[in-house]
Amino acid sequence: MSFIEVKDVCHSYNGKDMILKNVDLSVRKGEFLSILGASGSGKTTLLSVMGGIELPTSGQVFVDGEDITACGEKRRAILRRTKLGFVFQFFNLAPYLTVEQNIMVPLFLAGKRKRTMKTPIDELLEFVGLSDKRKSLPGKLSGGEQQRVAIARGLVFRPDIIFLDEPTGNLDSVNSESIMQLLSRINAEFGTTVVQVTHNEKTPITARASSR
Ligand SMILES: Nc1ncnc2c1ncn2[C@@H]1O[C@H](COP(=O)(O)OP(=O)(O)OP(=O)(O)O)[C@@H](O)[C@H]1O
Ligand SMILES: [Mg+2]
Repeated sequence: MSFIEVKDVCHSYNGKDMILKNVDLSVRKGEFLSILGASGSGKTTLLSVMGGIELPTSGQVFVDGEDITACGEKRRAILRRTKLGFVFQFFNLAPYLTVEQNIMVPLFLAGKRKRTMKTPIDELLEFVGLSDKRKSLPGKLSGGEQQRVAIARGLVFRPDIIFLDEPTGNLDSVNSESIMQLLSRINAEFGTTVVQVTHNEKTPITARASSR
């Protein structure tokens, strides 16, 4: 069964340049999907539309059978919080918060307490290999470590699916490799569906960003 279904989606930011043109795409539960496309081809736009951050100009997006282009913003916010996780193109970490505080930001924004975490913070830090950096500020971390913080933050609600926008885009090959291994573990051990976009040709490709 497909968990995400994109149907005939078009998107334009200014009403004339079509960034997404008649895109059809489906993502099955448990799948690990990499979407490849050149810079400026609309990868971030596609992820934003798939995850209910951006409403497409036309077409539909279904998440777990629910049309998220037809529901209100309040409902979309709940879906983003309960079923979808995001790791943005640039880490977007708060520089004045520690690693563990950064990871828990979505929790606090949602007014939830630490103890409601499905995966306790200690376990999550351990999973992403940051137990010894929990009190560090992002500015003291390497790029790979910052990306791990962003990934852990995307996993806070143990989403069914995690979207990652160029998770290895700012990393060297050694760090890229270890982030890819982490994503494989998230997929295998948590059963989380993984959708990443990238322009890295070395990534294992299962799809290409395309339009008809
Ligand atoms: N918020 C926005 N408002 C207006 N135009 C935008 C906006 N976001 C993106 N665009 C335009 O849409 C096009 C696709 O952008 P997008 O960020 O989706 O590409 P991308 O494939 O993610 O690129 P990159 O690999 O450089 O991250 C670009 O021409 C960009 O200028
Ligand atoms: Mg992008």
